[in-house]
Amino acid sequence: MRRAAVAARLAKGLVEVTKVQPTLPRLLSQNVEVMSTRKSSTVTRMNSTAAPLATSGIQNNVVDPFVLVESDLATMFREIHTELDHDMEVASELGEMAKYYFDGKGKALRPVIAMCIGHAFNQHSGVVNDEKEINQRKVAIISEMIHTASLVHDDVLDHAETRRGKISVNSKWDCRKSAMCGDYILAVGSKLLAQVGNQDVVEILSQVLADLVQGEFQQLQTKEEESERFEHYLNKSFNKTASLMAYSCKANAVLAEVSKEEVEAAFQYGRNIGIAFQLVDDLLDFVSSADLLGKPAAADLKLGLATAPVLFASAKYPELNEMIERRFDQPGDVETAFQLVLSSNGLDKTRELARSHCKEAIQVLDIIHQSEYRSALIGLCDQVLHRLK
Ligand code: FPP
Ligand code: MG
Repeated sequence: MRRAAVAARLAKGLVEVTKVQPTLPRLLSQNVEVMSTRKSSTVTRMNSTAAPLATSGIQNNVVDPFVLVESDLATMFREIHTELDHDMEVASELGEMAKYYFDGKGKALRPVIAMCIGHAFNQHSGVVNDEKEINQRKVAIISEMIHTASLVHDDVLDHAETRRGKISVNSKWDCRKSAMCGDYILAVGSKLLAQVGNQDVVEILSQVLADLVQGEFQQLQTKEEESERFEHYLNKSFNKTASLMAYSCKANAVLAEVSKEEVEAAFQYGRNIGIAFQLVDDLLDFVSSADLLGKPAAADLKLGLATAPVLFASAKYPELNEMIERRFDQPGDVETAFQLVLSSNGLDKTRELARSHCKEAIQVLDIIHQSEYRSALIGLCDQVLHRLK
């Protein structure tokens, strides 16, 4: 069972960090190493020099969070399908579209984080009961629904052709129907949110929707002032990615009925692991392109986006600033920027920043008692930092 779960996660790019393959091919000259084959059952860190994250005296036995909450989330996708089908009188195209991305092939990272936080804080408070756990599980499911609805909309905006190795919803159907499909998933998620029956939780998770849209909007803007660009990028990363993790954690800490300070720690855990997740995503956009194609592809640059690796690289290569300003729209911009990033310390600095957010995420958990769920949350930081895709 455990082996099967690990294999499934390997296919999704979340690596098992406890086993390290001794010899690794060098992918990029600077710092990034990957497995020689993704199909191999031997799994490894992306960066062989990576030191374990657990700090501040935490004695952390590695507990796999995905295995730990497996039983909580085993029927999640079936239940989401049932909810999405509920208002349909007959099997409909909208229902089929809405269920399309809930195929069990995603990482389900958000519900795993929300469940682990819920259990960890329940155990910390010493009051564990069914009502709390049922509602925390609902929050976890809603987080996956919000995430998926945002991906549907994102694919429309990005004119994506594929998602998770299959044809994207907007390509299989069309953009207008896909926009409505995303709305429908959100509507059904909102109904579940109402069922939690907690005013604070409704407010907390509503904030995520506003942040997601703002983050997507911020992504369309480029700050004229160079000195403001990194802050703008981090702000966008919070809104687009970390907000959902942070507020789902906060909601489940509120449901655990812990102190304000502890609720804040749950929020900070989600915020920090979320920003680290986005930083690694932005790093992988450079690395996995080279991995797959053996040459630059850089999807973000092609979309006109200047992410952390480019922003760091611009300190060494100021000529990047003009390209950033024109959103890499001149012939050759994407290729030049890609090469300059590789020749700079941009990838190292991005990973370093992700690492410091992971450390911060781990540190804030000092406030709660040791439990296997807390260990799992610590282990998750390692997984996020060393994931392959
Ligand atoms: C993936 O970005 C997209 C997001 C994390 C958020 C998208 C948010 C919206 C479209 C706003 C609308 C929100 C709702 C709730 C309907 P990406 O393009 O960087 O990643 P990708 O490579 O997975 O496409
Ligand atoms: Mg996209």
